[in-house]
Amino acid sequence: MELDVSTARWLVSEPGLAAVAAATTARDHDEDPLRILERRRADGLTRQRAAAVLAAAEARRRARDRWPDADALLFTREALEQASDPVVSRWRARRFAATEVLDLCAGIGGDALALAAAGARVTAVDLDEARLVLLAHNAAVRGLEVRTRVADALAVRSGPDRWVHADPARRRGERRVRALRDHRPPVGELVARHGTAAGLGIVLSPAVDLADPDLPDGEVEFIQLDADLVEAVTWLGGARDGNAAASATLLPAGAHLVRTGPPTPLAPGPVGDLLVEVAPAAVRARLHDHLGARIGARRVAAGRALLTVDGDVPGSPWYRRRPVEVVFPARPKVVRRWLRTADELPVEIVLHGVAVDPGEWWRALGRPPRGPQGRRIELIRTDAGATAVITRAVAPVARADGG
Ligand SMILES: C[S@@+](CC[C@H](N)C(=O)[O-])C[C@H]1O[C@@H](n2cnc3c(N)ncnc32)[C@H](O)[C@@H]1O
Repeated sequence: MELDVSTARWLVSEPGLAAVAAATTARDHDEDPLRILERRRADGLTRQRAAAVLAAAEARRRARDRWPDADALLFTREALEQASDPVVSRWRARRFAATEVLDLCAGIGGDALALAAAGARVTAVDLDEARLVLLAHNAAVRGLEVRTRVADALAVRSGPDRWVHADPARRRGERRVRALRDHRPPVGELVARHGTAAGLGIVLSPAVDLADPDLPDGEVEFIQLDADLVEAVTWLGGARDGNAAASATLLPAGAHLVRTGPPTPLAPGPVGDLLVEVAPAAVRARLHDHLGARIGARRVAAGRALLTVDGDVPGSPWYRRRPVEVVFPARPKVVRRWLRTADELPVEIVLHGVAVDPGEWWRALGRPPRGPQGRRIELIRTDAGATAVITRAVAPVARADGG
């Protein structure tokens, strides 16, 4: 355990908070962590308290870019790493407004605070009492009322008069888990225990397999924060959005798309004027075909989510357009010859289902300057074989025909 409960209780006391504030300022002035520890020890703190003070100071500094009031809050390093991003917590909490909710696996309260701020009456449950002590402090700082309860998420009772939000641990040491049976507690057990709640939302690994046997039959939402796919959530009962089967969300913008029936795959066809890369959240929710159908796109290959379209299409947060310059069979010699005739731009090699070594390809291309802002050599496994599609990030250019 990172932090024991008596040290946590001391940390939230006046002297504990003063020590964390002083250590944070000292670290802000680049003071050596070992020196800070020694000074705290010289002030009479036990080794445990001194270490907890330094860890809380470091965590606070790391939290600042996501938590505007981080300097008043308390975290442990690990609990901060596990805490939901506040933007994502706020988005999820909207489904729980004005409910009586159990926040299971509450940690230091990333989600519990957002749920309470959204108007829910929250009981935060965790096995780790020390984390709940920090959570209670964090709630008080925000002026929010959150009850805490040290308990196993699988032992507490819910039932049809309560809503349940659960954020099980998704790490084994440094490794992130994907299978729902490896979440802690396991997702199947959470559903078995709390499936009769008025509404249930369980946070899952963003890499969850839609065929995972423990994924319940409800809505699964994929959430992307900026360019990163950060999580999936399974929604059941009143927390499900009508009869949604899957949905995708882009944050911080709050764009949201819903699929109610099974996906209808677009037909594949030849590469057109643009490659269209759909946002990962929409691809994971199998909404790329739906988005593609809206703009008259086709798939570049039957099994690929990458789309292509003739002519231009309107901009959208749901996809990125890349004008196609030329299409070749995936042979470095041919591409190298073409590159010699083109204006010099940094090159990036991007693989779409083709098992090659990009470093080897780059060497075979004559080691052109590398970088993400110029030209891409997209190596795509199409139904006709491996293809090299050269695209640009800039405004459409006239397309040459490749041989
Ligand atoms: C991903 S973290 C929660 C983060 C939290 N939602 C936040 O945003 O700050 C998972 C938490 O689950 C707790 N946990 C693991 N197994 C549990 C169980 N069986 N019952 C209750 N809590 C559990 C861990 O102590 C940890 O705090």
